[in-house]
Amino acid sequence: MESIIQSSIEKASALLINGEVIAIPTETVYGLAASIDFPQAINYIFELKGRPRTNPLIVHVATFEQAEKLCMSFPEPLKKLANQFWPGSLTVVIPKSELVSDQITAGKSTVGIRIPNHPELLKLLEQTGPIAAPSANPFERISPTTAKHVADYFPKGLKMVLDGGACQAGIESTIVGFENNQVTVYRLGAISIEAIEKIVGEVAFFDSEKSHFVTPGMSKKHYAPKTKTIVTENIEDFVSKHSTSKIGIIVFEKSSGTTVSKEVILSPSGSLHEAAQRIYLTLHEFDQLDLDCIVIEPLPNQGLGRSINDRLSRAVHG
Ligand code: TXA
Ligand code: MG
Repeated sequence: MESIIQSSIEKASALLINGEVIAIPTETVYGLAASIDFPQAINYIFELKGRPRTNPLIVHVATFEQAEKLCMSFPEPLKKLANQFWPGSLTVVIPKSELVSDQITAGKSTVGIRIPNHPELLKLLEQTGPIAAPSANPFERISPTTAKHVADYFPKGLKMVLDGGACQAGIESTIVGFENNQVTVYRLGAISIEAIEKIVGEVAFFDSEKSHFVTPGMSKKHYAPKTKTIVTENIEDFVSKHSTSKIGIIVFEKSSGTTVSKEVILSPSGSLHEAAQRIYLTLHEFDQLDLDCIVIEPLPNQGLGRSINDRLSRAVHG
């Protein structure tokens, strides 16, 4: 049987324009994509992912002009950030125009928008217009960073996975909105808080406890491997207490010095960017190894390290 992993942008474009759902590469993670003009296709995305209908999708566009058509207003500080980081891994949440359906925004009056930084995807978006796309993983599982991850998650139900190689950023976009006159971070991600604060000054962090709506990207259990996962500074200690277990270890820049089934050093040169690029890739790989548990060293809590730690804390919850 012909593989669903293919590289024709023309074919991808034709499928989307015909109202089909396909998987697309982005620089952050792969997405499950549909044109915003096809309610049935949008519906199918929710179904395929097993995603609650209360959780909005973000919309991907090729140009600033397209982004502006999809919103009622674009607060100046968010525009500044978009100018700086687009095309790139920043999603802005802004008041939606009538071109964006309530189905996409889960009834909210705002829409999350970004211009991704991926050459094939940008070509595709120029042909199709705006595309709604959540990460291409089943609900609560780790986001996919290769075409094969997506095909393995959805062996049935997808006509095509557009192959765009391994994702360069490797974790999801950073999501920001504008509330009470302040740039507010909804989700940490591939653009660091430090980089954002350089442009707009101090940001606020969205407090889901105080809010009526829950953004599931912020829910505690998310991004979880199937294998039991632990985050600890004390790897040696853990390994010595579990000497009969099959353990996989993920460390940042130096070996743990323990003898275990498998160890991956995310970035021997100490680059947080490289660590982000490889974290989901490594978790996907470890999940195939039939390990008793995965033990991860927390990253330095700054820059992208903070975003990776955020994901790890959700991977271990429950
Ligand atoms: O990097 C990314 O953002 C990837 C790639 C495919 O672009 N997409 C992605 O989508 O991570 P998703 O749906 O898995 O996560 C988007 C998050 C969700 O947690 C959703 O609740 C939140 O964005 N979101 C979307 N629209 C929103 C809105 N109007 N207000 C608040 N949160 C919103
Ligand atoms: Mg997701």
